[in-house]
Order: sequence, then structure tokens, then C-alpha cells
Amino acid sequence: MAVGEYKPGLEGVPATQSNISYIDGQQGILEYRGIRIEELCQHSNFLETAYLLIFGELPTAEQYATFVRDVTYRRRIKYRIRDMIKCFPESGHPMDALQSCIAALGMFYPLPDLHDPALIYDASARLIAKMPTIVATFHLMRQGNDPVPPRDDLDYPANFLYMLNEKEPDPLAARVFDVCLMLHAEHTVNASTFCALVTASTLTDPYTVLTSAIGTLSGPLHGGANEQVMKMLAEIGTIENVRPYLERKIKNKEKIMGFGHRVYKVKDPRATILQELAIKLFDRFGHDRYFDIALELEHQAKEYLGDKGIFPNVDFYSGLIYRKLGIPTDLFTPIFAIARTAGWLAHWKEQLADNRLFRPTQVYTGLHNVPYTPMEKRVSTSAGDGVTRMASSSLP
Ligand code: CMC
Repeated sequence: MAVGEYKPGLEGVPATQSNISYIDGQQGILEYRGIRIEELCQHSNFLETAYLLIFGELPTAEQYATFVRDVTYRRRIKYRIRDMIKCFPESGHPMDALQSCIAALGMFYPLPDLHDPALIYDASARLIAKMPTIVATFHLMRQGNDPVPPRDDLDYPANFLYMLNEKEPDPLAARVFDVCLMLHAEHTVNASTFCALVTASTLTDPYTVLTSAIGTLSGPLHGGANEQVMKMLAEIGTIENVRPYLERKIKNKEKIMGFGHRVYKVKDPRATILQELAIKLFDRFGHDRYFDIALELEHQAKEYLGDKGIFPNVDFYSGLIYRKLGIPTDLFTPIFAIARTAGWLAHWKEQLADNRLFRPTQVYTGLHNVPYTPMEKRVSTSAGDGVTRMASSSLP
């Protein structure tokens, strides 16, 4: 078989066919099942959007009520999962905790038939339901507190904020959070979704599919960028420091976090919506000076990066919103994962419906027919540096 042209990062290479979401990166358009993201954010909520993504169309009133009931009913987590969380180091990253718990869930809820629609529905509702509970439970337990059980009378976003703070959130705060979840719910074949597809194609269960995806989302070039944005804004510190910071980064060829996208060559439409939401929140709950730094950074960065099509992405303003909602920085990416669960499950279901194992090829750049060198004749190369360093470490 002829080997095609190698594209680093598979840029522009279609990995699947999908009718779940669509991006026009030149015009800044994002649609879920054909519906523009702006329209969904205006009229829908996260659970309805999740249903739309996973099951292909907006639910009827009855389907919606059933789905909300089924998700609400599954919010609690088993005490064994709680006990497991108790053993995690408090300093561990919540993404690692979430990934471990989702892997463990698979042991409690085996799926005997991956193609049974009732079991697919059940697993989807369960994963959407339990992700927020796991994140909130880990957050409280790492501080030495008992977890706050979910409250069935609260809707999905309000319940998560309640479980984090043991306080019913202001309705505006809950609505803004709900829109954030919608904005992060799906985004075509990004790195974590691609990882989910590859894992799904082996016909493993959805808990394993999500475990893979969560791990992939955690990196700073993907979901972890929102956390890095807040660190960056803190490092910049003042409006006056924006320009020198930018110049230094550009000179050193370092990335500005929350900027750039493989597909969007204009400002990410989600960043525009988040920016508007941030203003609403600040009007109500007080200003955040980091927002001024962010605005100045966006303004100045145009001069340096605009010609390259590098503009703010979804991660640029989301952290500022979460900060105003009182959410700790290291929970930003887990929240991204809570939302993206909808998209991952939609792609899992779509992959199962027409599955073929992912097995790409490679362009081999190594040697051939290399003779085996006896140990006494081997010369050390830099490849062994890590081994030497580890061997001299005192860690067990
Ligand atoms: N700041 C400065 N320069 C950048 C940036 C940035 N944020 N992003 C890309 N560039 C430059 C890069 O230096 C390179 O320049 P040159 O051609 O002169 O070497 C050029 O643009 C292409 O960069 P790339 O990294 O090859 O492009 P990519 O398509 O792989 O980039 C990206 C996509 C998201 C990895 C990248 O823009 C980036 O690292 N951004 C910062 C991290 C970030 O905000 N990630 C969140 C992405 S959106 C949400 C999500 O998917 O999770």
C-alpha cells in the first residue's frame, strides 16, 4: 500500500465522518447538530444540549423530562468510590482523580451489550450525572471535608455549584455556568474526542472511552489551557506589563495561553459569548482586574498574532468566569470534562454505529538490519540519560 503524505498532528486529515458538530474556522461558526451555538446558548440548557448531541435531535417535552429525571436519579456515587477518593493525595490534580474514578466506575456498571440502545442510554445518563459529583466530592474531601450530597430539587448546573460550596447559587451564576457547559460540550474531532474515537473503536466500554478522553483533555495544549490562562494573567499582573510580556513571549517563540486554534483562524465564537457572560457576571458581582488585563492582552496581541490568524479561543475567558463563580483554578479543566462528556458520548455512540478499528500507518524513520552489539562493546549515548538520573534518585 502506498503511504500518503505525513501530516504532523494530522492537520487537515479527516479521521471520521460525523454529523454531530460543525466548525467553519474562517467565519467563526460552530453548530451542534446544525444549530448555531449562539442560538443554543440563548434558548437551551446543558442537559437538553447533551441530549441533542448524544441522541441526534432536540428532545420532546416528555423525552426531556425523562432524561432530566434519569440524570438526576443517577447523581449519587457509591461509597466505595468515595472511599477510593479518600485515599488520593490532597495535592493530586483533580483531573487525575476524575480519570481514576471514571475508570473505576466501569467495574461497577459493566455493559454486557454495547449495541443495546437502553444500555447506551443508561451509561450516558450515568456518566453525565456522576461527573460533577465526583469532581465536587474530590474537591471537598481533599480539604478534609465531608462531601455534600447532590440535591434533587436543584437543576444540573445549580446542583454542581451547590455541591462545591454547600450554598444554593444565585440564579444568574447558575445560568452563566450552564451556558459555559453548553459551550464546552462538543467541538468536532479535537484531541480528546479523537482519543475517545480510537478507544471506542476497540469496542471497549464507555467508561474506558471517557477515561482515555479525560487523560487527553488534561494537557496544557488542550483542556488544561484555561488553568494556564489564569496563571498567565496573574504573572502579567498589571495592564502596563501586558506589552513587555507579549514582546518577551513572541521573542522567545513561546505560546500565549488561550490563543490560537487548529481550526479557527478568527476569534473563537465561544470566546465572544464567554466574554459577554463575563461582563454580565462582573456587573452583578463586582469587577475583576484580571479581566482588564485580558482585554488589553487581546487588543495588543492582534498586532503580533492577528496576521497569523491567532485569536482568543474558548479557554481565554472561561477561567475568568469560573474565578468569579468562586471555583478554584485546578477545577477548570475538570469542568471542561464534565461538559465535554456529552460530546465524547455522542462520538462514542456514532463510532459504534459504524465501527472500524483505528489503525493508521506511520512513516518509519529508523534503521534496518542493525547488528546486535554485545554489552561490553556498547557506548553510552544521550538516550540513556533519563535512566541514569532515575537510578541515582533516592525515590523508591
Ligand atoms: N501564541 C503564540 N503563537 C502561537 C500560538 C499562541 N497561542 N498558537 C500558535 N502560535 C504560532 C506558533 O508559534 C507557530 O508559529 P510559527 O509558524 O512562526 O512557528 C504557528 O502559530 C503555528 O502553531 P502550532 O502550534 O503549530 O499550531 P497548532 O495548529 O498546532 O495550534 C494550538 C493549536 C491550540 C495547540 C496552539 O494555538 C496553542 O498551543 N495555543 C495555546 C494553548 C491553548 O490555548 N490551547 C487551547 C486550545 S482551544 C481549546 C481546546 O482545544 O482544548
